[in-house]
Amino acid sequence: MKLRTKIQMYTTMMIVITLIIVNVFVYMTFKKNAIDSEVHQIENRAVNIIKELEKSQHHRGDNERIIVNHLLSDGSIAIVDRDNKRKIQIMTNKNYESLVSDYSNKQVDRYVEHKGHYFVMVSVPVLWENDETVNLQIYENVDMKHESFETLKWILIGSTVMLTLIIFILNMIITHNILKPIHLLIDKMSNINKTKGYRKVEKLERSTKELDDLTDTFNLMMQRLSEQEEKEQSFIANASHELKTPITVIHSYSKMLKRFGKQKPELLDEGLDVIHEESKRMKSLADQMLQITSFQQKKQQSEIEIFDVTQVLRQLSKKLTLAYERKIVVNGKETSKYIKTNKEQLIQLFTIFIDNAMKYSDEVIVIQIHSVNRAIKIQISDKGEGIPEESLNKIFDRFYRVDKARTRQNGGSGLGLYIAKEIAQKNQVDISMASTVGEGTTITLNIKEHVIE
Ligand SMILES: Nc1ncnc2c1ncn2[C@@H]1O[C@H](COP(=O)(O)OP(=O)(O)O)[C@@H](O)[C@H]1O
Ligand SMILES: [Mg+2]
Repeated sequence: MKLRTKIQMYTTMMIVITLIIVNVFVYMTFKKNAIDSEVHQIENRAVNIIKELEKSQHHRGDNERIIVNHLLSDGSIAIVDRDNKRKIQIMTNKNYESLVSDYSNKQVDRYVEHKGHYFVMVSVPVLWENDETVNLQIYENVDMKHESFETLKWILIGSTVMLTLIIFILNMIITHNILKPIHLLIDKMSNINKTKGYRKVEKLERSTKELDDLTDTFNLMMQRLSEQEEKEQSFIANASHELKTPITVIHSYSKMLKRFGKQKPELLDEGLDVIHEESKRMKSLADQMLQITSFQQKKQQSEIEIFDVTQVLRQLSKKLTLAYERKIVVNGKETSKYIKTNKEQLIQLFTIFIDNAMKYSDEVIVIQIHSVNRAIKIQISDKGEGIPEESLNKIFDRFYRVDKARTRQNGGSGLGLYIAKEIAQKNQVDISMASTVGEGTTITLNIKEHVIE
């Protein structure tokens, strides 16, 4: 269902229901008040009759005269005994002969219809001759009143129908006007969608806050999509570029080996070394790229463990010291410090930073571990070349390297820190970096400590 139809339907329905309720209430109260005042008058008349009957000591003739005196301009008065028989009945119209009701020992008042006429009736028990109790029943014709009820009824019905119509039309105009900008916006957005570009929609001239918010959200989404696409494009371009160099090297060396390998054995060793080195680089690049895609697809399930970081860092440093013959010092108390994250990924994170420190410095690498207020702070410092300030916010981007030529010699691809950032995000590790060109770099990692009770 269209929003417009829905709004129109609900508001019209609500207003019609309210109108009906109000009108029914008005009609009922009016009718009740009119009948009540009529009943009140007849009750007074009945009281007067009773008083006069008492005075007359119930002389047969007197009774009838009293009742005749009190007869209304249009109606009937009757005395009905216990057996529902009429002792006396006086009326202004012959048709009213059957206008009596059954005997009751309580006072009764009613609004009744009789042969197409409407009456208000009061019946009161009265003491009659020989101490017999009878009913004094007074009927008054209220056709005029009934007519006014009918007129009121039709006026109310008519006004309800009229108002409904007016409200429906007004509603149509208002919803049309309110929804017009939404339709305009939908048209604009779907046009952009058709062109397959990432364009922004302009804000409407006569807009509302909600529509402006919608426009902003749409524009932000467009921007994000276009950035995403740009990133993907540059990732593919960068990856192909990174692969191109080792492939070209391997290709030319294998061609050379094919031609001269057999005649010149000294070329064989060199060629095989280069091919081995380049294929190793390609393998590591492919591994890193696969890891990045799996991060993006959120496929990797995190296996959470509780482990001692101090111990893990000490073991890792020992291993790397032996493998790369570099001095790595771990400072900090020997006490165990536990964290609760994915151990494998954390080791990879530390390795990326230590690996960089080893690649971009020649002196000792220092790892500091402290814990403050349930947070573990790990600092990895090197006394290397440092990172220029303008590059500090870019080094976490994919394939970004400060010095492309130099890092290629080191075997770097520019993906390490990007992977580190992803791991850190996944494991709630906070990374900050401080570096001075020519002096060195310090990476600070903050991890929540797991307190074992
Ligand atoms: N400790 C460091 N000292 C100096 N430069 C660094 C250090 N760590 C990272 N960098 C710079 O940041 C770039 C990106 O690092 P990274 O993503 O690990 O890529 P890679 O090490 O493969 O080149 C590096 O190329 C290097 O220029
Ligand atoms: Mg690196």
